[in-house]
Amino acid sequence: MTKKIKACVFDAYGTLFDVGAAARLAAAEPGAESWAGKWPQLAADWRRKQLEYTWLRAVAGAHVDFWLVTQHGLDWALEAAGLTDPTLRERLLALYWELAAYPEVPGMLQALTAQGQRLAILSNGSPGMLDGAVRSAGLQGQFEALLSVEDVGVFKPHRSVYDLVGARLGVRPDEVLFVSSNGWDASAGAAYGFVTAWVNREGAPLDRLHGRPAHVLRDLAALPGLVESL
Ligand code: LAC
Repeated sequence: MTKKIKACVFDAYGTLFDVGAAARLAAAEPGAESWAGKWPQLAADWRRKQLEYTWLRAVAGAHVDFWLVTQHGLDWALEAAGLTDPTLRERLLALYWELAAYPEVPGMLQALTAQGQRLAILSNGSPGMLDGAVRSAGLQGQFEALLSVEDVGVFKPHRSVYDLVGARLGVRPDEVLFVSSNGWDASAGAAYGFVTAWVNREGAPLDRLHGRPAHVLRDLAALPGLVESL
């Protein structure tokens, strides 16, 4: 077993849970034919606005929880797409509450647990959202802690969010492998002092920010091998 890493801490949305799934699944349901072709743009706008609003609210000191920010991002994206059906809005939000995990996630978590790793989530998500996503993905009992920014009242990448890991798990930053698919989160986690793995599912360019992730993976399947090698 690795001596260096004592805990693996995961970002949630986009890293463990497939944020594109809500719009993709809604577009495949009966009655969605008139707007189904718009789902990729809708999903991209929703995610982009949701994240922009977290950063802007953090800078402005105007925090509200991630569920409200998620609704504000969706409302912007629906209006941009010319979609006004309130039933569609409710359906998309219901699907977002119960997002599926990426297919490699359950096996990856089991392998890390078998290696003796402590596992946690560190997310912008509110405690209720994280609980809902973990349950619907069938991952109950896999994590020692679901750490939410609601405990500090500001979104990532504020340092006080990353401080939650040491405060709750009693580990030093350099004993933590922080795993995020969000390039800006991986960069900020690296700058904070975590050993960081960026899960670059989209093959995106490296974010030019204040830290550089030590490791880059295409998906989470290679993570247990990486942890073993550290
Ligand atoms: C999270 C966002 C960044 O789960 O996806 O924290």
